[in-house]
Amino acid sequence: MTVSLDSTLLKDSSYVNGQWLGDSVDFVSVSNPANGELIQRVASCSMDDAQAAVDAANAALPAWRSRSAKDRAALLKRWFDLIMLNQNALGAILTAEQGKPLAEAKGEVAYGANYIEWFAEEAKRVYGDTIPSTGPSSRIVVIKQPVGVVSAITPWNFPNAMITRKAAPALAAGCTFVVKAAKETPLSALALAELAEQAGIPKGVFNVLVCKQSSAVGKVLTQDPQVAKFSFTGSTEVGKILLQQCATTVKKTSMELGGNAPFIVFNDADLDEAVKGIMISKYRNAGQTCVCTNRVFAQSEIYDDLAQRLKIAVDLLKVGAGHDEGVEIGPLINADAKTFVQELLDEAVAEGATVLTGGNEQDQGDLFFQPTVLTNVSTHMRVAREEIFGPIAPLIKFETEEQAIQLANDSTVGLAAYMYSRDIGRVWRVSEALEYGMVGINEGLISNEMAPFGGVKESGMGREGSKYGIEDYLEIKYLCMGGIDK
Ligand code: SIN
Repeated sequence: MTVSLDSTLLKDSSYVNGQWLGDSVDFVSVSNPANGELIQRVASCSMDDAQAAVDAANAALPAWRSRSAKDRAALLKRWFDLIMLNQNALGAILTAEQGKPLAEAKGEVAYGANYIEWFAEEAKRVYGDTIPSTGPSSRIVVIKQPVGVVSAITPWNFPNAMITRKAAPALAAGCTFVVKAAKETPLSALALAELAEQAGIPKGVFNVLVCKQSSAVGKVLTQDPQVAKFSFTGSTEVGKILLQQCATTVKKTSMELGGNAPFIVFNDADLDEAVKGIMISKYRNAGQTCVCTNRVFAQSEIYDDLAQRLKIAVDLLKVGAGHDEGVEIGPLINADAKTFVQELLDEAVAEGATVLTGGNEQDQGDLFFQPTVLTNVSTHMRVAREEIFGPIAPLIKFETEEQAIQLANDSTVGLAAYMYSRDIGRVWRVSEALEYGMVGINEGLISNEMAPFGGVKESGMGREGSKYGIEDYLEIKYLCMGGIDK
């Protein structure tokens, strides 16, 4: 089905210093992963355009950070309102370019907008401190100030929310912002820019770049000395390269990198609830989130039962184009993603795993992958060691609590983990022992604007959302006031 998209929100070039850049010699072709249809050609920006965006953000900084927090909050709130007013149109654009089901896409638009609303409120709560001083003639005061110009690179799996979750705290804190949107899904980012302009966010404060050759533009964003802070969501592999680039000018960084989430189900768990948790944490966005369950660890007594119940639920999933009614699993983002997921599956099967359900070709189109449950999986298999980013749930058997913790922590990354148990003592012991930044306890959907999202180990650094999220965009300044005694 060809879907008509709202032309006022459908843009075809980068947005820099309050201007749409217009034509270019090169283009990014944005197509619908469900059917390969071209949605829009977007002019690809150059390194000079990226430099102009950073210069503009730097020029806009003094006025923006001088505005009162209440004033910045009011503009952010207006942006939030416009996004929610356009939720359906933004959802349709997001589904068209990214592939996720329309209900999920509209959910992402609201999820993304919630960060703007949340940080509009937090803008007014950037409190400092006074500290008892060393003697009667001095005072110690701590104030918090915006870090300055922020640059960001965001991924294709959440084309809206991964931008707002960085831009909202940055703007709330008084920083200006330049984002390079993923070339697979730039249209949601550009639509956000259109609404930011309509909301009255001043020119130069929020800039969006779209480009074909990411590395040259990436270098401007990670190395220009005017940029004080860089924020990235994406793979650990790319994050390491960007961190090195940021080191040349010692930028503050926030890194939301890869995961390999364990989902531990103990014998005493409510299995109906555990299946619900796996369904949402594994199959959301066709398995393409960094907090998606990557390894299901099931205790031996309930392993077979859990596998059967999961198979029943997975067989009911409707796979198809995101705009079609009732669809729950859309296509993967591109051919490389599909090949990778297929390789992981084939390798696991060759090494002894059993396909309980799924694993077959889908007739909906080239990029569809049937939701799959794999049993007899062992921890050395690549499907259990690498981030799958696709709809395969590998089930691994364990015997004891200690073994579950050891297997779950046997990973270089530590973003999200999940555990299902009704034993309160075990819940505390295991949650505290898990080397992860976030733990879902009898809960498979943990992301929201009020909670700190982020990981440990090679999953990165910094937190997004919550009262902690704005701290990443603030500097602490200590004022030592002397000469107070007469
Ligand atoms: C991500 O995959 O990077 C974000 C997932 C989420 O916000 O839940």
